[in-house]
Order: sequence, then C-alpha cells, then structure tokens
Amino acid sequence: MRKIIILTIMVGGIFLGGYKSLKLNDTKDDIDQKVEVLLARMTLEEKVGQMNQYNGFYDATGPAPSEGDDKSKFEHLKKGWVGAVLSVRGAKEVHELQKLVVEESRLGIPLIFGLDVIHGHKTLAPIPLGEAASWDLVAIRKSARMAAVEASSVGVNWTFAPMVDISRDARWGRVMEGAGEDPYLGAKIGVARVRGFQGDDLAANNTIAACAKHFAAYGFAEAGRDYNTVEVSTSTLYNIILPPFKAAIEQGGVKTVMNAFNILNGIPATGDEFLQRDILKDKWGFNGFVVSDWASIKEMVVHGFASDLKEAAMYAANAGSDMDMESYGYVKYLVDLVKEGKVSEDKIDDAVRRILKVKYELGLFDDPYLYCDEAREKEMLYHADHQEAALDMARKSIVLLKNEATTAKGKLLPLKKGKKIAVIGALAQDKTSPLGSWRIGSDDGTAVSVLEGLKKYTEVTYAKGADVVLGEVDFRLEVNVNNTDKSGFAEAVALAKQSETVIMVLGEHGFMSGEGRSRTEIGLPGVQQELLEAVYAVNKNIVLVLMNGRPLALPWAGENVPAILETWHLGTQSGNAIAQVLFGDYNPSGKLPMSFPRSVGQCPIYYNHYSTGRPDVAPDVFWSHYMDESNDPLFPFGHGLSYTEFEYSELRIDEANSAEIKISVVVRNIGKVAGEEVTQLYIHDKAARVARPVKELKGFEKSSLAPQESKTITFALTENELGFYDNQGKFVLEAGIFDIMVGNSSIKGLSGSFELKL
Ligand code: BGC
Repeated sequence: MRKIIILTIMVGGIFLGGYKSLKLNDTKDDIDQKVEVLLARMTLEEKVGQMNQYNGFYDATGPAPSEGDDKSKFEHLKKGWVGAVLSVRGAKEVHELQKLVVEESRLGIPLIFGLDVIHGHKTLAPIPLGEAASWDLVAIRKSARMAAVEASSVGVNWTFAPMVDISRDARWGRVMEGAGEDPYLGAKIGVARVRGFQGDDLAANNTIAACAKHFAAYGFAEAGRDYNTVEVSTSTLYNIILPPFKAAIEQGGVKTVMNAFNILNGIPATGDEFLQRDILKDKWGFNGFVVSDWASIKEMVVHGFASDLKEAAMYAANAGSDMDMESYGYVKYLVDLVKEGKVSEDKIDDAVRRILKVKYELGLFDDPYLYCDEAREKEMLYHADHQEAALDMARKSIVLLKNEATTAKGKLLPLKKGKKIAVIGALAQDKTSPLGSWRIGSDDGTAVSVLEGLKKYTEVTYAKGADVVLGEVDFRLEVNVNNTDKSGFAEAVALAKQSETVIMVLGEHGFMSGEGRSRTEIGLPGVQQELLEAVYAVNKNIVLVLMNGRPLALPWAGENVPAILETWHLGTQSGNAIAQVLFGDYNPSGKLPMSFPRSVGQCPIYYNHYSTGRPDVAPDVFWSHYMDESNDPLFPFGHGLSYTEFEYSELRIDEANSAEIKISVVVRNIGKVAGEEVTQLYIHDKAARVARPVKELKGFEKSSLAPQESKTITFALTENELGFYDNQGKFVLEAGIFDIMVGNSSIKGLSGSFELKL
C-alpha cells in the first residue's frame, strides 16, 4: 500500500512506520501519539476533509457516479476530503468505497461508515421505547450487541444511536426512539445500549461506535411538533435533559455525540458553544467527536442565526461541532475561514484529532476492511441467535396494562386453549408494520404477524374489520389516516358474536411514529375506535392488543375493555412474543417508561413534575386542574401488571450512614405462577433551594420470583441520587427531609421518610 511509505516517519526517536504497521492493541497514549504524527502530515484541506461527512451515493454496480453533486463527492473522496459517509452498507459496497479512499487519496485515511442502526439491522428488536419498557438492562445491552453484530457484518462501524433524548410529549413521533420520560431510567438504558454497541473491544470486527443524540433538548420540541423550537428551564436542562448524555459519556464511554436541529435560548444547538464546548468537552471531558445532525449546520441560516452557509460553518466549527453531516458547509468554506482568521487552526486540529482517534480505536488504520467480510455478512444476517435475542427482548418489552375479571370465570388473560377465539384488526395480519419505524436496513414483510404467532397455539378465526391507514406506506411520505371505510365492520361484528373471546389488534402503523411523525390526536387512528366499540357492543370479552410507537390516549378502552396488552412495535419476532404472552408461556413483566395520558390535552404529562402551589382539590375552582378531565394519566409511569401478584412489606430505612442511606423492602410473589417484578424506588426532596419534583425515580431492580418466593431488595441512596443541579449547573446536596416510596409503579408502594443530615 502506497500510504505506508508516505507515513513512514521518526518521532521522538521511535520508529512508527506507516499506519498499516501500527499495532492494534495500542495503549491510549500510543493512539494519541499516532494521531499527532498523522495530523502533522495533513494539509489544511485534508484536515477539513476529515470533518466532512456525505450521505451514501456511490453506485456499487458501476465504477463511479457520473453526474452532478455525486460526481464532485466522488472527486472529494479521492482527494481525501471526506472523513465519513452514512447509509452506505453491504460488505462489498463498503469495501469498494473504502478501497477507493485508501488507495486513491494521498494519505489513505480510511472512512468511517455510519448508519442509523436504531433497533437492529435486518433482525429487528422492539423499538427503543418498547425495549425501555423491559427495564431490563442486561437484555437491552444484549439487543444492542445483536444490532452491532449484524450491522458490522455489512461494513457499518458507527451507529447513530442511542437517542438519549428525554421526552414528555406523546405527540412527538420520536418518542419511539428513546427511553421515555425519566432521566434516571433513560441514563441507565443509554449506557446499556452504548455498551452493547461498542462491546468490550471497539477494534473487534463486530463492534461499532455509538452516538448519543441529540445534544441537546431535541425531545422538548414545543407542542410535540418535530423540529420545533425548544423552551426549557435551566433546571430542566441540567436535571432532566443532560444527565443521560453525561452517563453515556462517563459510564458508557460513548465515542460520538450528535448535536440537534433545535434552537435553545435562541441559539441552534449545532452552533451552541455553551453546550458543545463548555459543557460537553470542557466540563465533562468528552474526548470523542461531535457530528452535526443532518444538514443542521445549513439550517442555522433558516433559523435566522447565521446569514449564510459560510457563517453557519464558522459558528458550528467554533462551537465544537466536529463533523458536518450533509450541509457541505465545512468542505466549501472551512479552509477559507481558517485563512481569514475566523476559525483557528487549533480548533480544526482539535476536531480532526477526535475523529482520527475514533478511527484508530475502531481498528480502521490497522485494517480498513475489517468490517467487510462477505462470508460473515451472509452468516450474520437474520442469524438464528439474533432471532432468539429479538424474541426475548420482544417478550420482555410487552406491558400488561389491564387484566380485569369479566365474568365469574375470571380474567381473560392468559388465554385458555380450546376457546373459540376471534382475531380482529388489520394489524393482526401485518408483517411489516410491527417492525416499527427507523429500520433502514430491514426488509418489509419480515415480522412474524400476530396471526402467525397465534396459529402456533390454536385455531383462530379472523376478520380485518378496518384498515389503519390508506394506501401504500413509505417511510419518507406522510401516512394517510383518513380512513372512513367501515365496510368490514359487519363481518368483524358477526365473527365476534360467535366467539368466546375476541383479540383486537389495533393501534398505529409502524410509520406513524419516528422522525417527522408528530400527531395532534393520539387516539386510535382511522375508524379503529368505532370498530372497537362496535365489537364491544356484541362481545365484551375483548383482549385489546395495542401496537403503537408512542403512548396513546384511550380513555374509553381504559374504562371498558377488560384486558389491554401494550406491545409497541416489537420487531421481527412480534407475533411469537405476543402469542407467548397471550397464552401465558411468558409472564409479562414490562413497565411503562412513559405516562399514558387520558387526553391529548394533558400533554406534556409526566410523573416527575413539580408541585404547583395549589395541587389539592378545593371546594371552589381555584386549584390546579382541568374542568373536563382528571389530572392523572390513564396509565402512569412505571405501571405494568403480571399474571401473578407481588406483595411488598418490611420497608426499612437505614440512615445511620448519611453518605449511603440504605432502603430495603421485601417483595413476595403471592400468586400461583412464577413472574418478574420491577421494584422501583422514588424519592421526594421536600424542600430545596431549587424545588424538586414530587417524585423522582432513583433505583430499580428486576427480580424473578417463583410462587411464594420472596426477596429482600436493597437500594443505596448516595449523594448521586439525593443531590441535584442548581441553576448554575452546580451539583449540590442539601440536608433535609426526603420522602420515599418503594413499589411497583410511580403511584403504588410503601412509603417512609428520612432526614439527611450533613
Ligand atoms: C436524524 C438523526 C439521524 C440522521 C441521519 C436526522 O434526520 O435527526 O437522528 O441520525 O438524520 O440519518
């Protein structure tokens, strides 16, 4: 390889050789040293090139793209003016493009290949919000490993995940991509996912760099409309929005961070020095690199922040946005900006160092084709082990929202074999929609449908009843939910009449959530609510199986339908997981990671809100409430039932050591079947300089208990859990009274209190 000769060099008396000869098991210092050597060889244009990322365009079937923008991109690749590409995949395709860059460009610095591997590549696990409902960090980490193993086999070595944005507004379609409304749970899950993607050895061929996104506050888009302006308080920024990012960096070791589309305090996050330099890089010591969101540098002009793309590039580079994804701002203007003294070369060097370092850590300098093994690709896609992992994750993500006795015979779930079961709803036979949103690498029609899953257990009869959406669905285009066609109702109702139990599979199409998919109505789309009520009129024994990418507001169902199972979009193994839970082969254990509202008018609704000055019901109207709806959610954060029951007792608070207050509780399975329970610990700091929320999750543990088995669960509350950020961003711990609650949701448990003395 030509580059070996170019880079052969002596540094401080050490012969380093060309990059090809640099060993893989380098220590951190070695990598830093090698980065310096390489950096010293680079021209300003080549440095800026590393900061430039293009979307995939390379036609693998032809030698080179021939026209327009793609042609200049191709030339840029050959000149070494591209540091990374996104959405190019396939071991062969990646190899070809990598080869072009490594062999044609002067220094042959390999590309990083990024892709949105959000919940799997071809084999899909549940959408991230669904996974979050498992509260199972081991399973979530495994699921991310599976995703990394598959994605890395197609040449990808960088995923734009996990999204660690906290979100409180179910109208926002991207809630499906995160871990819900709570920063404590969100931080733990973010760390688990980073560790899963990055594995123990980033230089292995089956691990990929992760990316914590979107820095910061993107999940607080006003009124839940994607890309909208963000208005948040300083306290919310420090205490709710930032902690999952900090954890992803400090505990997860995430290699990259993506900034965000939104404006915050009048400054687009992409051009925000306070966020990217002061907090992320200086205060937290993040030493990976920051990638812009798609064209977010360019959008700073539209935001009314920069007057043109050149100024936008200047702001972004100065603010610490290290790589430009598809704005063309850096590649066009950064060299000039440096020459004009508007961006210092030091800042460019800092960005390039960070990017090169990740490339070294990924093992790309040792072998640029590390991820391009066609045999491995063939073996890994849809691998049997991945089906197992996806099934396990899917079962664990299901939440039993309601299961009430309908007759003297008891509860509908788990289903008994031998009953006459009718299945109704278009989603029951759908093999694509359950794959969910954000599934760039997947193939349509690869989910096991609910009908297929159920048929493994029993004979069922089926009627569609009504479609969810009209026409073909494309992930780039608006879905049409204006379906008024009720022509299938009669058949569904007739079928329900003749059956003992009716399983209604209703909800959102997989592409009704995700990026750009906000809704103002969050009930059942189309005529599904009417279908539900029509069936209920003839047969009340309904098990409602919900498929959705966000919390839905279903007050009628909550009130009337006896059994409700939340199944999100569970991915490839959807139907198998749902059938196993319906028939009791798997006892559901999921808990909601986001509150389910009664009405969209309550949004944003979240359990960890502040108290108002007037929270209590008053005889007059002057208390904090709605005239027409309760303040409470339909299903609260942390809620989820099981086929068994758990009893809590013996809450103990050991405050002998104020540095570590121990809380213990005994949890007992008092039902007849084995089950898993997520025990949750909430605190309330009763008075503080900056008021604290009415409840904050500060510990949870999932345990598996046989009938009558009990277990003592102990939590430790240290300053990390008891402290908070003040409005200057300083973490403080204050003496005072804390209430605690330990139980199985954010509203149910044993309570006590202690005084923290400092
Ligand atoms: C999204 C990012 C994503 C990027 C690349 C953007 O539109 O906001 O989350 O990683 O596209 O696909």
